[in-house]
Amino acid sequence: MARLSAGVDLEERTNKSTLDEMCKEADDVSLITFLRGCYSYLARLEAEDRPIPISSAYLEQQINQVLELDRSPIRLRGTEVVLAVSSDAEALYRALLSNVDDAAEFKQGDIQIEMVVSTIQERLSRPGVVLVDYGVGLGRVLLGLASAGLFKNATYVAVDQPIHDDVKALAGKVGARAEFHEREAFLASSQPTADVIMVVNTLHHIPFFELAKQLAALLAKLKPEGVLLVHEMAELRVPEQFNIPWRVEDVHLLFNTPLLKPNLRTTQSRGQKVPITHLLVKVAGDGDLLGTLESNARAAWEQMKRRTLDTISELYRSKDPEAHRELQYALIANANLDLNKP
Ligand SMILES: C[S@@+](CC[C@H](N)C(=O)[O-])C[C@H]1O[C@@H](n2cnc3c(N)ncnc32)[C@H](O)[C@@H]1O
Repeated sequence: MARLSAGVDLEERTNKSTLDEMCKEADDVSLITFLRGCYSYLARLEAEDRPIPISSAYLEQQINQVLELDRSPIRLRGTEVVLAVSSDAEALYRALLSNVDDAAEFKQGDIQIEMVVSTIQERLSRPGVVLVDYGVGLGRVLLGLASAGLFKNATYVAVDQPIHDDVKALAGKVGARAEFHEREAFLASSQPTADVIMVVNTLHHIPFFELAKQLAALLAKLKPEGVLLVHEMAELRVPEQFNIPWRVEDVHLLFNTPLLKPNLRTTQSRGQKVPITHLLVKVAGDGDLLGTLESNARAAWEQMKRRTLDTISELYRSKDPEAHRELQYALIANANLDLNKP
């Protein structure tokens, strides 16, 4: 039944040849494949108007009840196996992203999205407001914005390289008036069109040698009262290649110039207590912003390097076996700083 209806040959999953033997050693995947086969078989009988023992909808409902009682993270939806979710927003998000693993951070990042959305909320009532999501990734910020009542008033501009197709689908689904731009083309035009440019969890992805150029271009795209919103986690709990976490003092140093007016806040995530930096930047005067940001980026890199080397030598000196993990992270940060110079 599984082979005919769901296209999966259960015999290939086992070296047992009789049905009895197969049933005895069936694992979860085999079982759910078999159930998908049952669903599909019943649905076919229904479509052909043939007599059925139970309806396919009833089968799905019964199976899902068992899975729910069992606190299983999966559910049967027709012939598909999907993840159980706790809210409509999450269901929509997961349904629209082809790779569910990519959505894994959604819950953990809630506080980030709440901060970003609440910062922007007041501006949404302004006519013709334009929001730029720079480094849109998989559209997590878009999903949060979609929950804000006045979001449909805004033009939402997604920038990335490349832009994930699922983000375009998500924008359509949440009814956003949306534009999509490749990063380089977006930075090349300096029309001041944006009310808010959101750079969420993206600062640490921008290589140091490009940082000043990208930030100066973004600041040039702000309308006179426009604001650049930089939101970062100040620790990377899983080390990334090339990337170094930006601490609040590094972010402060980067934007520290009379040419800009920064407004900095910090907090921490609810679950894992990861420190979070939330910064609003306005342009405050005319001058060599690119040159200033270049020298600030160098100063921030040097500050990170000094701090990382100090941490490494302190941890070596302490000979504390408990500090092993922290030492490993500091060594990776040090290597990344050498690979990612201003
Ligand atoms: C962790 S994702 C952030 C996605 C989203 N803003 C969020 O908070 O879920 C990092 C983003 O940085 C972007 N990125 C990677 N390299 C970059 C670069 N050189 N310059 C600018 N952005 C870059 C990625 O394409 C991705 O969209």
